[in-house]
Amino acid sequence: LAKVAAAGIETQIGLLEEEAAAANRQFLFAVRHRRPRVVLKAAFSLDGRIALPSGESQWITGEAARREGHRLRVDCGAVLVGRRTVELDDPQLTARIPGVVNQPVRVVLDPHARLKGTERVFDEQAPTRHITGPIDLPALLSDLYESGVKGLLIEGGAVTAGSFLRAGLVDRLEMFMAPKLLGDGPNWLQGLGLNALADAPSVQIQETRRVGGDLWIRADFGARG
Ligand SMILES: NC(=O)c1ccc[n+]([C@@H]2O[C@H](COP(=O)([O-])OP(=O)(O)OC[C@H]3O[C@@H](n4cnc5c(N)ncnc54)[C@H](OP(=O)(O)O)[C@@H]3O)[C@@H](O)[C@H]2O)c1
Repeated sequence: LAKVAAAGIETQIGLLEEEAAAANRQFLFAVRHRRPRVVLKAAFSLDGRIALPSGESQWITGEAARREGHRLRVDCGAVLVGRRTVELDDPQLTARIPGVVNQPVRVVLDPHARLKGTERVFDEQAPTRHITGPIDLPALLSDLYESGVKGLLIEGGAVTAGSFLRAGLVDRLEMFMAPKLLGDGPNWLQGLGLNALADAPSVQIQETRRVGGDLWIRADFGARG
């Protein structure tokens, strides 16, 4: 700076600081906290359900919302699911967007090593971390950070989402709400174990937008988002 000023060039610092911080939010968060920024994504009906009691769940939201979901995978750089989602839905968890070069790292929580290894998430389309044995979430996040992961998209299911929320390790919610009523069936979140309303985690809604026929709600957990 001194050199530039000495050369007679007008200099100012701090310009567009907020915009720059917002554009680099994930990177700055990860470096400051030494863990990836965690985004929890869910798609559900107006009454908060992710499936029918029969288990039928694909697809609740429309095509436009699903496309946004693929974009979130790219933006985060890593995607995580629980063992039951792999068993029941067999998702591939890649970002199916033309031109994407770096596919997200896929992370599967399977403490008892129940998965066969032949599921689609273990194919050759993207790298996969199969986490077995006792799972310590803060340790897992710091391990992912050390391997270069700066953002992590939790894509379910309900038990996995609940475990990250209970540990206070979710920074942002990306919710896609479909204009449908399912009436019965599982909720997108399980196992918060609350006994008092005063303990209910609350978020700040940052943005709501229509995507196709669905509603997109983006919300942050306080200053952490
Ligand atoms: N609509 C949506 O947005 C959406 C997205 C994804 C999934 N889903 C639906 O969600 C359902 C599955 O959800 P689910 O709640 O039953 O199961 P899940 O969250 O997919 O998997 C739960 C299992 O993963 C392992 N696990 C997760 N978190 C862990 C932690 N912190 N520590 C240790 N192990 C952990 C455990 O495996 P073990 O039991 O082997 O110990 C646990 O029982 C499916 O019906 C699927 O269709 C919906």
